Amino acid sequence: MAFIVKKKIHDNEYYYLNENKRIPETGKVKTKTIAYLGKNRKDAEKKAKEILEKKISSENTKKEIKEEKKANAVEIQDAQPTKISIEELAAFCKRKGFVYQSGEIYGGLSGFWDFGPLGTELKNNIKKQWWKFHVSQREDTVGIDGAIITNPKVWEASGHTESFIDVAVVNKKTKEKFKVDKFEAEKYKNNPQFEVKGEFNPMFTTTVGPIVSDSIKAYLRPETAQLIFANFKTVYENSRLKLPCGIAQVGKSFRNEIAPRDFLFRSREFEQMEIEYFIKKGMKCPYKIPDEEILVFSAESQEKNTEPIKMKILDALKKEIIKKDWHAYWLATEIKWFKELGANSENFRIRQHMKNELSHYSTDTWDLEFNFPFGWRELEGIADRGNFDLTQHEKISGKDLKIFDEESKERILPEVICEPSLGVERAFLVFMFDSYFFDKERQNVLLKLHPKLSPIKAAVFPIVKGDKFEKISEEVVEQLRKNWNILYDKSGSIGRRYARNDEMGTPFCITIDGDSLKGKDVTIRDRDTKKQIRVKISELNDILSKLIEKEIKFEKAGKLFS
Ligand code: GAP
Repeated sequence: MAFIVKKKIHDNEYYYLNENKRIPETGKVKTKTIAYLGKNRKDAEKKAKEILEKKISSENTKKEIKEEKKANAVEIQDAQPTKISIEELAAFCKRKGFVYQSGEIYGGLSGFWDFGPLGTELKNNIKKQWWKFHVSQREDTVGIDGAIITNPKVWEASGHTESFIDVAVVNKKTKEKFKVDKFEAEKYKNNPQFEVKGEFNPMFTTTVGPIVSDSIKAYLRPETAQLIFANFKTVYENSRLKLPCGIAQVGKSFRNEIAPRDFLFRSREFEQMEIEYFIKKGMKCPYKIPDEEILVFSAESQEKNTEPIKMKILDALKKEIIKKDWHAYWLATEIKWFKELGANSENFRIRQHMKNELSHYSTDTWDLEFNFPFGWRELEGIADRGNFDLTQHEKISGKDLKIFDEESKERILPEVICEPSLGVERAFLVFMFDSYFFDKERQNVLLKLHPKLSPIKAAVFPIVKGDKFEKISEEVVEQLRKNWNILYDKSGSIGRRYARNDEMGTPFCITIDGDSLKGKDVTIRDRDTKKQIRVKISELNDILSKLIEKEIKFEKAGKLFS
């Protein structure tokens, strides 16, 4: 608090502006002179007023700046997901019913996982969005659903029985077991710290036919791709496809991994979403390459031990770092798919395979990699397979798989210029890591999944007790369930109900209150901002549909209120 003091020195009066301040550490009040006000009382009062007004306004500005800085800090902090380890994510997934160890009551089985109610919904939504983007919305692509066990000759032709080989290595000191590719084995053979345990084919085998003497040895498919090649000609003709065109498949694959690890990252049973994209040799990509910028890690950079460079995919093509337009197109398209569903492309990079790393079927492969808590790892492989597979299947089956080319009037064997191949579980991990926020203010996890991916699209809560309110809530639930997965939650405090849904990633909570009966309206609360809007029950389905598709801003979808 400020005040004026008069000091008499000899016969003269001097006026000062003083201020009392409490020292927080000691609790004592200390007086400080702020300004000299002159010798005249009236002038001193005027001057003091001016000084105090200036001081208040500058303190207010300082306060405002401080508050703005604080708000910005929260925003910046909130813009990044909370960093958690893969073990913490696995624990969260188990607690909320996303994923459990398979056969857990018997101790589980390494490399196998069961998806719980929320995990199943999320996984289905990922697959649904993938299919929509890559198949339904494309003129040039169709999909198939092949068998898990097929004629073993398929795997002979593809080279899997002979060339699909992992080498098991053990660290003698830590006893850690891991797999390396065949080309890497030499490095470990010459290092006394490691023991190379031998070569293994990771294909699971089984027998087909219950009578042992008549049965044949078969394999659980290690990739979905081969069924696309084996069916290529029939699908091409049935669907009246024209090159360039894609054939897609989503389904289970199995690999008897030497060391399954990092939760879902490397498992023995997993799902793949794959496209074989066929062209006539030399065909140019007619599509616009999406404008995506990403860290690019070429084989040359890796050989020279230099860092990846951030650049536009299109520039990487122009500079011939990416050699083919089709590769640039598919890399950018895949990044776009992830980004549109809320993944943060800052956590992505593309890495070219080094020569000795290429699979037996590929001449050039780029991986889309993600910065997992355990380092940069492959998320999706995009290989140029040439006509390796169709040539092999022609050779082993003895069937002509060529198609008629209208342009040259010749029969040709198409090439797979790109094979975008993504594991569903790895995409699942990316979306979980990129949407996991621990909200300090709410003191609970906020799973900011894109509404299209959210397992539950909306939760409905009556917040006033009574039959009338429950009845109207049930009617709202029934109306919404025609289109979406809706949770009806009438127990617990409203805060608990919001928190439960934040953790499940439910984007919208709908409350029915005392005014809903009269006004025939409800409140929608946005998960990420906690903003609330009031909307008519008759318009709810239409509004929710637009909110899920992000066709409308939340604030514009109804009457905003606090
Ligand atoms: N048809 C090509 C192919 O299968 P891949 O690089 O062996 O290529 C493609 O696998 C994708 O399948 C990987 O990028 C990854 O997302 C997923 N994947 C492969 N092995 C996996 C495993 N053991 N566990 C989980 N996902 C796996």
